Formats: sequence, C-alpha cells, structure tokens
Amino acid sequence: MDDMSKKDLVVIDYNGYDYEKFWKNSGRDYEDAADKLAIRKLLPKHTRSIVDIAGGYGRLAPEYLGRADKATLFDYSKTELAQAKKIYGDKLATKSGDAYHMPFADGEFSAAIMVRATHHFEDVEKVIQEIHRILEPGGIAVIEVANKKTLPRMIRYWRGKSDVSPFDLSIENRKDVTKTVFYNYHPKYIEKIFRDAGFEIEKVRSVSNFRSAKLKKVFRKGGLMVLERGAQKVLAPVRFAPSIYYRLKKK
Ligand SMILES: C[S@@+](CC[C@H](N)C(=O)[O-])C[C@H]1O[C@@H](n2cnc3c(N)ncnc32)[C@H](O)[C@@H]1O
Repeated sequence: MDDMSKKDLVVIDYNGYDYEKFWKNSGRDYEDAADKLAIRKLLPKHTRSIVDIAGGYGRLAPEYLGRADKATLFDYSKTELAQAKKIYGDKLATKSGDAYHMPFADGEFSAAIMVRATHHFEDVEKVIQEIHRILEPGGIAVIEVANKKTLPRMIRYWRGKSDVSPFDLSIENRKDVTKTVFYNYHPKYIEKIFRDAGFEIEKVRSVSNFRSAKLKKVFRKGGLMVLERGAQKVLAPVRFAPSIYYRLKKK
C-alpha cells in the first residue's frame, strides 16, 4: 500500500460522536477492564513521554498518567479531544491530526500506545511506520490489533457460515470501505509489518478472551476477569482472542 496518497485514505471520523457512551453503562465493563489489565502489564512502569494515538476521549489515560512525565492524547476527532480536556484538564496534553501523518518530530516520544484503532486503518503499515518514526530508539509501543483468526470465526468458516478464511493472511474488510472501515488482521500479517518497520516484538497478550454475551450473563464482569487474568498470558502463544496486544521495542 506504499503508493497510497494521503487523500486516498479513508479516515473514520468520530467528530460529533459520543464515544464515551459506547463504554458507559453499555455492558462492556469486561472488555474495558481486560484492555486496562493488558496495558498495566505491558507499559513501562515509568517513561519520559507517552502519546496515546487515536486515543479518543482518553478512556485509557488513567493507566498511563501516573507512569509518564508527560502524556499526550492524539486523535483526529476534536469532539473526543474536547471531552478529554473536560475530564483530565492540564494533566493530559491534546493534539489533533491524522495518524498517517503525525504532527510530531522524529524520536519525540519514549512510549506510545494505540488501542482499538488498527481496525480503522486502510493503510495500517503506514501508521506503524509513523509510530516507529516518532519513538526514540529503544522506545516502547503498546499496540492492540483486531484479530481475524479467532475460534468463533474458525467455527463459522468450518460450518460454512462464512466464506472468509481466518487462516488466510490477507486483511479482512468487514464493511464497505467507502462508508465505514473495519479491518481485522491475521497475527502473522501484522507481526511482519511490525518487524519490517523496525520493531522487536517483546511481549504478546491475548485480550478479551471471553467476549460473549452468553458468558457475560453467567459469569458477570468479576467472574470473567478472574478467567481473563489467567488467560491473557497463557493464550497469547495461540493468539486466541479478538484483541491481541503487542509490546514492541524500537530497534
Ligand atoms: C474505537 S476509538 C478508540 C479510542 C481509544 N483508543 C480507546 O480505546 O478508547 C477509535 C479512535 O480512532 C480515531 N481515529 C480514527 N482514524 C484516525 C486517524 N486516521 N488519525 C487519528 N485518529 C483516528 C477516532 O477519532 C477514534 O477516537
């Protein structure tokens, strides 16, 4: 996708959208807690400066504010950034822009985080290269990736209910790209992109392993988080969950 120009790329615009509502009282407490647990485990305990890329209204800021001397929330949507300012005030710097061309200097940050954003990128490779550029050598990136090779997808495929093979390395576009982008990635595909960009994969976590309406009813958030705590590391080698988290180090 190297030849894609800026104007060719679709940006999913959250301006005017209340993303906080997506999380608040929406039955997604388990997924929220699972994300936060993974971040707590993967982020450095202390870092000079962190940028939360496509960070929305700063849902995850409580996980990194205490660990960084300076924290910046970066997002395309000014609605999200304004909401973050209301919540965090001066504790969190905000910057708007497009992840394909970030308004930051080479090596500006010692750490970066990007969660629930890869599924929106038509050219994920370009964004990963940008993250590599804005990190200092040895800098750490914690990136969540939407996984196409999950057990439910395998079952759907084997039963003939879906013709999208979860074993195929190519990107899965789940919706009409001209309206709303929603991509899932095969772990091998995205891991090659990380390595080609100049990252070493230091740690992997399988996250939101029990994302299922039925399981939520039976176990509730507390029960699911007991299971999740054990599963994130154990299931990482098979890249089991719909969300795979990577801790990457810039070489
Ligand atoms: C699903 S939200 C995730 C927000 C946050 N990371 C979280 O997990 O709560 C996706 C975010 O990506 C942002 N986004 C999408 N495309 C972008 C782009 N090209 N550049 C910067 N931000 C983008 C949207 O504005 C939105 O806030």
